Amino acid sequence: MAYPVSAACYVVLAAVVVVYAQRHSQQESHIHYAQLGTDVTLQCGSVDRDAAVTWTANSTDLDASHLNGSRLVLRNVDLSHSGQYSCYEGSSWHLKYRVNLKVGTPPKEPALMCRSNNYPSGFYCSWHMPIPTYIPDTFNITVMHDSKEIVCDMDVSLKNRCYIRYLHLFSSKKYKVTLTVTNALGSSSTSISFDEFAIVKPDPPENVVAKPIPNNARRLLVTWQYPSSWPDPDSFPLKFFLRYRPLIIDQWQHVELSDGTTHIITDAYAGKEYIIQVAAKDNEIGTWSDWSVAVHATPWTEEPKHLTTEAQGAETTTASTSAFHPLYLTRPRSPAEEVPDSPERLSLLLFCTWSEGRVPFLFIAALPGRPSPPPKKKVQGGPGSPPARPPTCHPTNYKLSRNFAKPPD
Ligand SMILES: *[C@@H]1O[C@H](CO)[C@@H](O)[C@H](O)[C@H]1NC(C)=O
Ligand SMILES: *[C@@H]1O[C@H](CO)[C@@H](O)[C@H](O)[C@H]1NC(C)=O
Ligand SMILES: *[C@@H]1O[C@H](CO)[C@@H](O)[C@H](O)[C@H]1NC(C)=O
Repeated sequence: MAYPVSAACYVVLAAVVVVYAQRHSQQESHIHYAQLGTDVTLQCGSVDRDAAVTWTANSTDLDASHLNGSRLVLRNVDLSHSGQYSCYEGSSWHLKYRVNLKVGTPPKEPALMCRSNNYPSGFYCSWHMPIPTYIPDTFNITVMHDSKEIVCDMDVSLKNRCYIRYLHLFSSKKYKVTLTVTNALGSSSTSISFDEFAIVKPDPPENVVAKPIPNNARRLLVTWQYPSSWPDPDSFPLKFFLRYRPLIIDQWQHVELSDGTTHIITDAYAGKEYIIQVAAKDNEIGTWSDWSVAVHATPWTEEPKHLTTEAQGAETTTASTSAFHPLYLTRPRSPAEEVPDSPERLSLLLFCTWSEGRVPFLFIAALPGRPSPPPKKKVQGGPGSPPARPPTCHPTNYKLSRNFAKPPD
């Protein structure tokens, strides 16, 4: 029973849709895409070639020099020719045709790159148009691995980016990614292929902080954190690369660190503001991250009045307190090590006590002649040199020396 009724309904509905569409097309704009620099001829709908018509662009009348019969001819169009064009019968206001002209270019090869900043979870591919086309482009990306296609999930928040989960880790088969961009004027594509390991590049380290070390005119304490996008630091540890320079000097100094997220700069120029950045890389695979956001710090600066007072107080404290002896550290000096100047000699001890936060400040400042810990190995070229360990304050690394326990005469 229901069948004939609903069938009749569909017929009526279809008729309404057709009529609506016909009437609408009279009023609604068509879209005409034209390539930059070409000549464009717009036809006044189904109006006769020789009929007398008036054309407007954005509601402004165009003069007759642009006409060939009822057709509008635009020569060597540029972007400013885009707009709404309307054609009226004779000089009446009876609209015969309306078209939206959009001037643009066919796409050039899109720029495409893929990167894993969250190894071993997956990787993403992102792309952009090196030259704008000025008209809507659609992208089609295909990812092939081991002759199977893998779905690349579009990013909902970031335009032109999609994600792939690794289905097989440690695969020796290459990934091949093809991106095709299409618009009304043409299409173009780019293909890249790569190994799983080659595209691993972490995000830069986060929360980089550089601080002066109290009573140390030549030291800066730098700390940072793993990039939060790196999912498994335990299984895939990162190594780090630190660069620093005084603001007034253009040349960077570099230190590579195989582990840890802290480093003490021991050779800063006293009183100079430093700029410091850190980069990260997987210990074995991939490439270095970009540099972290630059942080600035100036080593602690001594105030002369202050120092005298501290030195006075320290003498008495030191003489009577044997419990602090493990802090008087020294270690055999290698020939390569420079002999530090006076404030530098205090540095190791000062840092140790400061970081443990227990030893009185006054006591510390009175101990001259103590060698500084080994300077970190300087890396000349860039990533790839052997790592240096951060100095520790553990007494077993150093020879205890009673000599230094004596306060200066
Ligand atoms: C008008 O269009 C016709 C047909 O496309 C062409 O042959 C003729 O040269 C055009 N006239 C002008 C003045 O451009
Ligand atoms: C029509 O208006 C648009 C938007 O204001 C403008 O960009 C375009 O150049 C105009 N086109 C013409 C032919 O005046
Ligand atoms: C994208 O390209 C692939 C391979 O060229 C094709 O099979 C697929 O149908 C295209 N997808 C779309 C949405 O055009």
